[in-house]
Amino acid sequence: MLRSGFNRRTRVALPVVFLLAATAAPSVVAQDRGVVRTDAGVVASQQWIASQVGADVLAAGGNAVDAAIATGFALAVTHPTAGNIGGGGFMVIRFPNGQSTAIDFREKAPLAAHPEMWLDENGEYSSEMHHRSHLAVGVPGTVAGFEKAHTLYGEAQWASLVDASVALAEEGFVLSDALAGSIARFVGRTPHEASVQAYSREGTPYVAGETMSLPDLARSLARIRDQGADGFYSGETARLIASEMRRGGGMITEEDLARYRARERTPVTGTYRGYDVISMPPPSSGGVAIVTMLNILEAYDLASMGHNSAEYIHHLAEAMRRAFRERAAYLADSDFADVPVQRLTGKEHAAWLRRNIHPERASVSHPSDVMLPPESMQTTHYSVVDADGMAVSVTYTLESGYGSGIVVPGAGFLLNNEMGDFNAGPGITSESGLIGTKPNLARPEQRMLSSMSPSIVARDGELVAVVGSPGGRTIINTTLQLILNIVDFGMSIDEAVAARRIHHQWLPDRIRIEADGTSPAAIQRLEEMGHTVQMGGQQGSANSIGVDPRTGEIVGAPDPRSPDSGARAGRR
Ligand code: DON
Repeated sequence: MLRSGFNRRTRVALPVVFLLAATAAPSVVAQDRGVVRTDAGVVASQQWIASQVGADVLAAGGNAVDAAIATGFALAVTHPTAGNIGGGGFMVIRFPNGQSTAIDFREKAPLAAHPEMWLDENGEYSSEMHHRSHLAVGVPGTVAGFEKAHTLYGEAQWASLVDASVALAEEGFVLSDALAGSIARFVGRTPHEASVQAYSREGTPYVAGETMSLPDLARSLARIRDQGADGFYSGETARLIASEMRRGGGMITEEDLARYRARERTPVTGTYRGYDVISMPPPSSGGVAIVTMLNILEAYDLASMGHNSAEYIHHLAEAMRRAFRERAAYLADSDFADVPVQRLTGKEHAAWLRRNIHPERASVSHPSDVMLPPESMQTTHYSVVDADGMAVSVTYTLESGYGSGIVVPGAGFLLNNEMGDFNAGPGITSESGLIGTKPNLARPEQRMLSSMSPSIVARDGELVAVVGSPGGRTIINTTLQLILNIVDFGMSIDEAVAARRIHHQWLPDRIRIEADGTSPAAIQRLEEMGHTVQMGGQQGSANSIGVDPRTGEIVGAPDPRSPDSGARAGRR
């Protein structure tokens, strides 16, 4: 919760015409995806058009929360793998006075949910039901979360934050190579007719350079613009969602939608070598795990080991292994389970976890009775800082790429498959990776455990960086390494984002290292220590912002791993 007064200013009406001009014909906006340095505000996201929409809000006098909301709605149009109004996520805010807060708009289970809901008629667990059916859809939280953030901390008029996205959906935007390819693959595999209709021309995939419009989505967004969250959780949109649920055997009713509430929560905080780290509390596991790992690693001179040396990777992997075991054992929605956040994020607990880290020998992960369920790799993270230094870190998702793949007929947006983040069922723990432990089982209105870790770093009362990433459980480790790159290795924000990353998640017991992430000699040394090493692939998309400690400039650093990412400055 915000701990002291934040002065609200009178709401400003942003000039809609300006917003429309900047976004309705995005092909006229020069596509520069590089690093942006400015003393005005910045938005960095996985889709440069959405960054531009947010930057326009900053330029017109909106604050960072306003820009984050506008960017989020624009991503729902331009980044359909993860941008959404049919999903959920988290927002961490740091105010210019150093206070902070968090908005939880994670999806929740419908009232009819129960722990055995993914067992078929023979009592067998069905991964298909858990991850790909209408039962996999959680009650969406994004629109309620944006409205809550706006009511508490926004300054611009609500309609002006949605208008540009209505125009983008209505008039369309030009598809990049990457997006056209991704949408064509989605359309080729989805069994849902409404999804094919929304994202193709009568079944013919769009190609790069074509303009894609989304008229039903434009109408849903217009209802949100005109009626706020009521325009989503009641009335026509709610009726269309509930009707699709009935048609497809899902559980969400109009009552579930009407009862959804976003929550303001106290962020998880920690300190690391004199820096303050502010991150997301449960139902995310991210903040707790990141602070646990930082506390473990604080005892080591990581800088002298060398970035991505065998010794460094070994110590990171051992910290990760331990934090992920704790995650599986304790983390869940704290409104339903007793999560010992204070204990897990304490320095004493880290000392206890550290006691059996051998400097040159890998530990072994024991499956015992706790294993982790599989997660997919599609989510999106964006960062906003305004000219006053208000910082907003947002990670939100549909869970899988394109979520459940179900577009609500007549409403034009994709529904999440976030129920897959609940455990499989009571006692269902298997070598194949299912988990059946109690805290994170599906219960009516419980929120499913998440790894999303929107985070903010400060030092001596000054903002240092806004960080986060998509990538399922790799999110936690990507965010950890962004912080280590800044603090231990003195990297600039763009260097910290570009640097190669590693991942260990306790089980399976192996280190994954991005392609070219370390030397062959270091890999050999890690294997001699007893680690299993897997090389290759990309980890995350950490669209971040830093404050240059020498000049005080705000630096937007889109992740070069994402072809359409971009940072945009809000002109004053
Ligand atoms: O909330 C979570 O942790 C997952 N549903 C996020 C999924 C994800 O990050 C996939 N990513 N790229």
